Amino acid sequence: MRRSYLEFRDFLENPIPGITISPNADLSTRTSMRTRCRTAILAEVNDPRGLRELLHRAHERAWPLLMLGGGANTLFATSFFNGITVSLGKPFESIMPLDMGVLRIGAATPLPSLIGSAKRFGLMGLEFLYKVPGQVGGALAGNAGAGGWGICDLLERAVCMTRNGRIIQLKRGDFRYSYRFSELKELIILEADLRLRPLDPAESERLKADYSAKKKNQPYHLSSSGCIFKNVLDTSTNTRVSTGKLIDEAGLKGYCIRDAMVSEGHGNFIVNVGQATGEDFLALINFVKDALGEQYGVDVELEVNVVGGPMANVKVYS
Ligand code: EPU
Repeated sequence: MRRSYLEFRDFLENPIPGITISPNADLSTRTSMRTRCRTAILAEVNDPRGLRELLHRAHERAWPLLMLGGGANTLFATSFFNGITVSLGKPFESIMPLDMGVLRIGAATPLPSLIGSAKRFGLMGLEFLYKVPGQVGGALAGNAGAGGWGICDLLERAVCMTRNGRIIQLKRGDFRYSYRFSELKELIILEADLRLRPLDPAESERLKADYSAKKKNQPYHLSSSGCIFKNVLDTSTNTRVSTGKLIDEAGLKGYCIRDAMVSEGHGNFIVNVGQATGEDFLALINFVKDALGEQYGVDVELEVNVVGGPMANVKVYS
């Protein structure tokens, strides 16, 4: 059921300093899958003190609250999210060099800008994130990466807010993370210090070329969330098997449900070739999951964060 007009008014008539509220806001341009979705309230945070008050109010009124990063790995299952979608604004886009090869980076800083910024400060080490979309906060929450590396490997310290508005600082050893998983996703990440290494320009270019070559079949020109499933763990060798390769070998490339299509380029991408909805993506995800289960006896795990619906794997707070 949609929230009543009176509930919106409460938010609009009692503004929170540092928070911009937009009722019934369009989210379709805020996720890289570009599915049609609106949210009851979009709250853009420009001041962490305002965020604390927002969390408090949402909790008092039992409003579901979702933290959205760059939207590169988020799929809304339905066309309306009946809650508050929180997004960090411009003040959280920042990069500042500290001593000893550490960069202090705001959580809303776009990942694609990082390699160039590090280079300007005479540093490297982020090349494995070449062409990975999204923002630093979301990347840390999902331990984004490639080639056996994840962004959490570089973390020195993260400044986060708990769901009850407390600011905490965590070092790498204070939380668990692994392949495409990080306990930081339980928190609202505000800022991170990443440890890099001195720039070797030729080595940096070589690494970028390597990662670029690995991505040559990935359809980044189309709307998708990148890889939709995690790679499958082969317990006999403790290595990961490419789910994209399995999908390819199962003959599923090009398979469509309405405008959601298994990419012709890389099997682990589902692309929006028109007006695909969250339901279309989920129907295709289920189809592929079942097909891989039947053919290979594997139960592939989602890499994408699903908001709402029966496959939800994102915690919505209230
Ligand atoms: N392959 C196929 N067909 C396909 C896809 C892959 O034959 O449709 C083959 C490739 O030719 C290659 C092997 O499978 O021989 C591995 O493929 P790839 O190098 O693309 O690696 P991947 O394991 O499928 C992972 C990450 C990607 C990352 C690449 C490159 C996951 C789920 N995916 O894919 O990350 O870009 O390695 O480093 O871990 C993402 O997470 O969003 C993502 C795109």
